[in-house]
Amino acid sequence: MGKERLILALDLDDQVAATRMAAELHPYFEVAKVGLELFGAAGPGVVYALRDMGYRVFIDLKLHDIPNTVERASRVLGSLGPAFVTYHGAGGEEMLRAGIAGLFDGASSGGESLPLALAVTVLTSEGSANEALMAERIGVAVKAGCQGYVAGASDLKAAHGLAPALVSVVPGIREAGSTRDDQRRTATAREALDLGADYLVVGRTVTAAPDPIKAAAALLQAISG
Ligand code: C5P
Repeated sequence: MGKERLILALDLDDQVAATRMAAELHPYFEVAKVGLELFGAAGPGVVYALRDMGYRVFIDLKLHDIPNTVERASRVLGSLGPAFVTYHGAGGEEMLRAGIAGLFDGASSGGESLPLALAVTVLTSEGSANEALMAERIGVAVKAGCQGYVAGASDLKAAHGLAPALVSVVPGIREAGSTRDDQRRTATAREALDLGADYLVVGRTVTAAPDPIKAAAALLQAISG
């Protein structure tokens, strides 16, 4: 068990800085996540740049709009050849279905492999995930045909019960002694994996560390073996 589970959140506002960090940290991560900040700063070109470096790319724009808009935006994103794309579960079943249709169509038309469409359930920056809301969002993700979901480590037990076949992605990773920043439902990488997480989103624990390479090596060590 190791780096294939780790997703590097490149929350930077500059493509040069982001790709430099991605290059330094490639020994520790196979997936690079492009969120609103980096996509806003650098646009689709950064997805190609990261793919050229050998990364699988996670496009994390948490789409939430009317179904037609989400479908059309997803077609564009699918053509970029990402491995994962996120949708906000609050958008509902029809929106998620439209997004997945557009995403798969864009990927197939571009000759790319089909990405995993992930539904964001309840953000890990919220103090607690209401059980009923979590169940509703997971249920909608399953019905719409999502391949996975994003949830906090503490939500995994319930989520696995409701959607055993879906891939789980867990952000809010904080090692002992580090600050939580704006995250509330946090866990260490080891705890999240022990609770059954398939992938971990790792951001500031590594990217804001005084020595990101050292922090990444320590994280990988903590989850190996
Ligand atoms: O580890 P750190 O808190 O820096 O990671 C935050 C990253 O995880 C951000 O890119 C954020 O968008 C993402 N994320 C999150 N909670 C979710 C989904 C994604 O924090 N539910």
